[in-house]
Amino acid sequence: MNLFDVYPLYPIEPVRGKGNYVYDAEGQEYLDLYGGHAVISIGHAHPHYVDAIAKQAASLGFYSNSVENSLQREFASRLGKACGYEDYSLFLCNSGAEANENAIKLASYHSGKKKVLAFSHAFHGRTSGTVAITDNPKIVSPFNVTDNVEFARFNDLQDAEDKLKKGDFCAVIVEGIQGVAGIQMPTEGFLRGLRELATEYRVSLILDEIQSGYGRSGKFFAHQWAGIRPDIITVAKGIANGFPMGGVLISPDFKPWHGMLGTTFGGNHLACAAALAVLDVIEKEKLIENANKVGGYILSELAQIDGLKEVRGKGLMIGIELDKPVGELRRRLLFEKHIFTGGAGVSTLRLLPALSIGRKEADCFLKAFKELINE
Ligand SMILES: Cc1ncc(COP(=O)(O)O)c(C=O)c1O
Repeated sequence: MNLFDVYPLYPIEPVRGKGNYVYDAEGQEYLDLYGGHAVISIGHAHPHYVDAIAKQAASLGFYSNSVENSLQREFASRLGKACGYEDYSLFLCNSGAEANENAIKLASYHSGKKKVLAFSHAFHGRTSGTVAITDNPKIVSPFNVTDNVEFARFNDLQDAEDKLKKGDFCAVIVEGIQGVAGIQMPTEGFLRGLRELATEYRVSLILDEIQSGYGRSGKFFAHQWAGIRPDIITVAKGIANGFPMGGVLISPDFKPWHGMLGTTFGGNHLACAAALAVLDVIEKEKLIENANKVGGYILSELAQIDGLKEVRGKGLMIGIELDKPVGELRRRLLFEKHIFTGGAGVSTLRLLPALSIGRKEADCFLKAFKELINE
């Protein structure tokens, strides 16, 4: 059987990782500034993480959600404290799309309404509901097309209000920082205004922090820079450093009933052990402060480089837009300088490294980047 060929692949296979580096079978080292698409939060093969998963696998790898699982309770309590949402509840699932799917479902149950307002260039996932609120017709199949979704212009509160006024909306969903769109920043005024509109029109404000959360922006959640509290927050990617896991943080206004949501694998013992280890490391190594510091350094250095169209971002979620396609530059960074980076659209380079990178890694990238763009 062949693999269903949906991914364009670089001809490189990392077989081992350590900290901020990955290695191929020949031992070639690559600096990882892509974090496997914003997933690696604490670095590759962190000894505490490896130990926690190995110990859990050796005692109990899995049992179903029909019995007590104290690891889930411990994780919920630790996460609530770490992110400042101790009064919220947690539903655990397996991916970002599944987290958003459940968030929409909750908002719809809660209000009895069915429409969702999303924003231009948003990306929220590829399952039926989440691809419908994703602004990319190329990945929406005829089955996924629905009248239950409207898109307003990103950072345009008036447009959002004009749509919400029409009624029948259960939710408005926005990314903490738009990732797939090329690191597009919502203004603080936009997020605050959305909070007010959501309250006024009695719809749930859902913050998709799947890419921008878990410390990446230099605060636990990117929306915390705007000082707002959403009704529902979704997380995945960095939550378990590569172990598949997603979560929905739910305000006390939502009342659960048995059978309302569910999943076979969500919150399993291995995932919880991985997620607890991630929180241990984030706290012990002060990785959120580090993301803020090192990200701020990279952004200020990039701001001094002539000829870039725009540099956007916060913490270690950085977009560098050029006035030409960025594909060749990414290839040269990878094959000549041995640095993994991400892309977005045609002309934006994305940096989404582990929150543990230091000045050394930042300087290595900046030197290589300057050399290539000045050639
Ligand atoms: C903002 C955002 N939401 C949702 C998703 C979907 O997450 P997953 O691929 O885990 O389903 C992604 C993935 O890139 C994302 O960046």
